[in-house]
Amino acid sequence: MLSLRAVVLSFLIYSTWCEELSFPPDFMFGAASAAYQVEGGWKAADKGESLWDALTHETPSKVFDGNTGDIACDSYNQWRRDIEMAAELGLSHYRFSLSWTRILPTGFANYISEDGKNYYNNLIDGLLARNIEPLVTIHHFDLPSIFQDMGGFTNPLIVDWFADFARVVYSLFADRVKYWISINEPLGLCDAGYNGVIAPALHSPDLAVYLCSKYVLLAHAKAWRIYDEEYKPKYHGKMTISQLALWFEPLREEDEERTALMNAFCEERFGHPIFKGNWPPDLAMLIEERSFEKGFSRSRLPSFTQQEAEYIKGTYDYYALNHYTTFLVKIAEGNESGIWPFTGAPEIGVVFRQGEGWETAAPSWFGIYPEGLRNQLNWIREKYGDVQILITENGYADDSNGLRDVERVQYIKNYLGEVLKAIKIDKINVTAYTAWTLMDNFEWLMGYKIKYGIYEVDFNSPNRTRTPRDSANYYASVIKNRSL
Ligand code: BGC
Repeated sequence: MLSLRAVVLSFLIYSTWCEELSFPPDFMFGAASAAYQVEGGWKAADKGESLWDALTHETPSKVFDGNTGDIACDSYNQWRRDIEMAAELGLSHYRFSLSWTRILPTGFANYISEDGKNYYNNLIDGLLARNIEPLVTIHHFDLPSIFQDMGGFTNPLIVDWFADFARVVYSLFADRVKYWISINEPLGLCDAGYNGVIAPALHSPDLAVYLCSKYVLLAHAKAWRIYDEEYKPKYHGKMTISQLALWFEPLREEDEERTALMNAFCEERFGHPIFKGNWPPDLAMLIEERSFEKGFSRSRLPSFTQQEAEYIKGTYDYYALNHYTTFLVKIAEGNESGIWPFTGAPEIGVVFRQGEGWETAAPSWFGIYPEGLRNQLNWIREKYGDVQILITENGYADDSNGLRDVERVQYIKNYLGEVLKAIKIDKINVTAYTAWTLMDNFEWLMGYKIKYGIYEVDFNSPNRTRTPRDSANYYASVIKNRSL
C-alpha cells in the first residue's frame, strides 16, 4: 500500500511536471492577418489607391497568375465571420492591420473616411465583445500610391506623412486598442521592397534599401513618441515595431563572424537603433568599407545625427518578432550560390544553406528548424536584456489544397514546443504567440498559390467560405488546454 506521503509526493511531482509542460495562465495565443492580404473592397466607398492596387493592376505579370487583392478574402464584408473564427479558436488576440487609404483616401490626414472608420470600429468592437484583444499594425506594406510615387520610405517626408496617419488612428481607436505595432517588418518593407520581392518591387539593393532603413526608423519613432506623449498616459497601451526575424546560424566554425554580421544586417539594423541607439557599429563599419570600395565618398547607410539617434532610441514597449525559418550561413567562395539570398548576401559575402535532414515548406528556401526560434529568443535577450517579447507571426507555407494539413500541425507543435522551452527552461519573457495566418490570403507576389492559413478559404465561392483545417483544430486544443 502506498503511504499518504508517497501519494502526496507523486501528486506534487505530477503537478510540477504538468506546470512545466503548460503555457503560463496569462500567455496570449493569437492569429494574424494584414489589410491588403484579406480585406478586398479595394475601391469600396471612398477608398484610395495603395501601391499594391497599383502594382497588381498595372503590372499583373509580377504577381503569380496575375492575382490581385481586389477581393482577397473579402474581409471587408466578411469581418463578422473573421471574428467568429477567432472566437472558435479561443484566441486571446487578433492581429490585423489598417489600410491607410481606407482610412485616409488621399493618403494625407486632410480627410478621414467615414466608411474606413466604421469598418475598423466594427472589427475592434466585435473582437472586444468576444473578449479578443485587437493587436493593431498601423502599416503593413500597403502604402498609398501617391507616396510611393514620391519615393515612399526613401523620402524623408514619409516621417511626417506616417506620423499624421498614426495620429488619426490613435484619435479613432486608442481608447480600445492596447497593443500596437507601428510598422510591419522594416526588413520586408525596405529589403524585400527594393529587391523586387514585394511592392514596390524595385531593384536598388545598394541604395534605396539603406535610405528606407533610416526613414522607416524615424517614422516609427515619431509615431511611437506621439502615442507615448499624448495617448499612453490615458490608455496605457504598448507599442513597438515588428521585425522580420530571419535567423542565421553558422554552417561551420569559420562562418561565425559573418553569421553575426548577417544577424546584424537583418535584425540589429532595426533593433539596435531602437533598443540601444544608432546603427550597430560592426554593420555600419562594414557598409562604410564596402561603400568606399565601390567608389562612394561616404557610406551608403545614411548616418543619424546625434539628435536623430536619441529620438529613435528607446521607442519600444516590447519586442515583436515574426519568425518563420533559419538559414545556415557559409562564406561564399567563387561563384557559389545558395538558397534565397534576397538580401545581405552580396554585402556580406555569404551564401545560405539548409541543415542536413531539415524538411522544407512549399518555398524551397523555407527550412524547418524549430530550435532556431529558441536560439533566436535567447539571442534577443542577450542583445537587448529581459524585454517582454511577443511572437507576432509564425506559420507554415504549403501550396496544396485541403483540410488535412499534417505538416502545419507538426510545425505549430514543434515551434510552440521551442517557445515553451524558452519560457520554462531559459526563463525568457515571451508572453505571446501569433499564428500566421488566420486564413489563406493574398501572399504578395505569390498571389493565392502559397497558403499559410489555418482556415482554408474557398476563393471560388462568393462569400469566400472559410473552413477550419486540422491545424486550426489543433491550435484551438492547445489554447484550450494550454499545452501541446
Ligand atoms: C509578412 C506577411 C506574409 C508572411 C508570409 C511575413 O513576413 O508580414 O505579410 O504573408 O510573412 O510570407
